[in-house]
Amino acid sequence: MSENEVVVEAWNTVLFDKFTRFKHLLIAGLAGYSDEVFSRRLYPAGARVLDVGCGFGDSAQRLASAVGPAGQAVGVDCAERFIQAAEQDARAAGISNVSFFAADVQQDNLRGPYDHIFARFGTMFFMNPGAALLNIRRALKPGGVFTQIVWRKREDNPWLHDAELRVREIVPVVSHEDSDAVHCGPGPFSMAGPDMVSAMMQGTGYRGVTFERYDTDICIGRDVDEAVEFAMALGPAGEIIRLAGEEGERLKPRVVAALRETLAKFRRSDGVWGPSSAWIISARNPAPH
Ligand SMILES: C[S@@+](CC[C@H](N)C(=O)[O-])C[C@H]1O[C@@H](n2cnc3c(N)ncnc32)[C@H](O)[C@@H]1O
Repeated sequence: MSENEVVVEAWNTVLFDKFTRFKHLLIAGLAGYSDEVFSRRLYPAGARVLDVGCGFGDSAQRLASAVGPAGQAVGVDCAERFIQAAEQDARAAGISNVSFFAADVQQDNLRGPYDHIFARFGTMFFMNPGAALLNIRRALKPGGVFTQIVWRKREDNPWLHDAELRVREIVPVVSHEDSDAVHCGPGPFSMAGPDMVSAMMQGTGYRGVTFERYDTDICIGRDVDEAVEFAMALGPAGEIIRLAGEEGERLKPRVVAALRETLAKFRRSDGVWGPSSAWIISARNPAPH
C-alpha cells in the first residue's frame, strides 16, 4: 500500500469507527466553528458549494439549506464509509439538494465547477497538501472563494494537547514509519503555520489569502469518564496509544489515571469543555485578466 492508501484506509476503518463512537461530541463541538462561518452568509441562494473532507456531512446539510432548493451542496470524502453515513443522515433529514461522493481530494476529479468551496477540518490530513490545494482551486469558478477551517497551534488547543502531553509522559512514542498500523496522515496541526500555508496557497494560484483566528470551547465529554475515553481514542493522544500497540494497551491504566487528573480541570456543570483555537482561512480563485 502507498502511504496515501494507508491514510485513506485509516479514515475508512479505525478512524471512522472512532468518529462514529464520538459522533455526538464531534458534530456539536466542530459546529461551533462552521456556525461562525455560516453566520456570515457567504453562500447565496442558488449557489453550488462543495464541502471538502465532509465526514458525516452535517456541514454539507447546512450548506444545502443556505443555498436553498435552487442551489446544490456537494460533499466529498476519501472514506466510502463516511460517504455512506452522510447519505443516510441526509436522507433521514429529508434534504434533497445535497449529494455526496467518495474521492481523494489530492488527485481525483472534484466534479466542479463550484461557486464556493468549504472545508471544516477536512484539509489537514493530506500527504500532498499542495496537490490538494491546486485540485480544489481548479474546481472553483473564477472569483470563487475557498474557506477552510483548520486547527491553530497545538499549545492553543488544550482540549487535545493537554491529553497528548500527559500521554507522552507515560507511553513511548512510536512514529508512523516504525509501525505497520494505519495512520491519519500529517495530523490535525499540519496547517497551523500561516507562513507555510499562505505560501502554499499563493504557490497553487490562490489570491487574497486571509487568516482569521477564531476560538471556542469544545465539549469533550458529558463527564470526566467520557472525556478520558475521548482523549484515549482521538487526536494525537489516541494516536500515540494506538501506535504503541501492546505497550500502549499495557500502560492504559496509568494513562487513564493521569488523564482523569488532567481533564478534571475542564469540568463544568454542563460537561467537560476544553479551549480550542482555529484559523478561518479564506482565499479566492482569481478571475483571469
Ligand atoms: C477531521 S475529519 C473532519 C470531517 C468533517 N469535515 C467534520 O468537520 O466533521 C477529516 C475528514 O477528511 C477526510 N479526508 C482525509 N483525507 C482526505 C482526502 N485525501 N480526500 C478526501 N477526504 C479526505 C477524512 O476521511 C475525514 O472525514
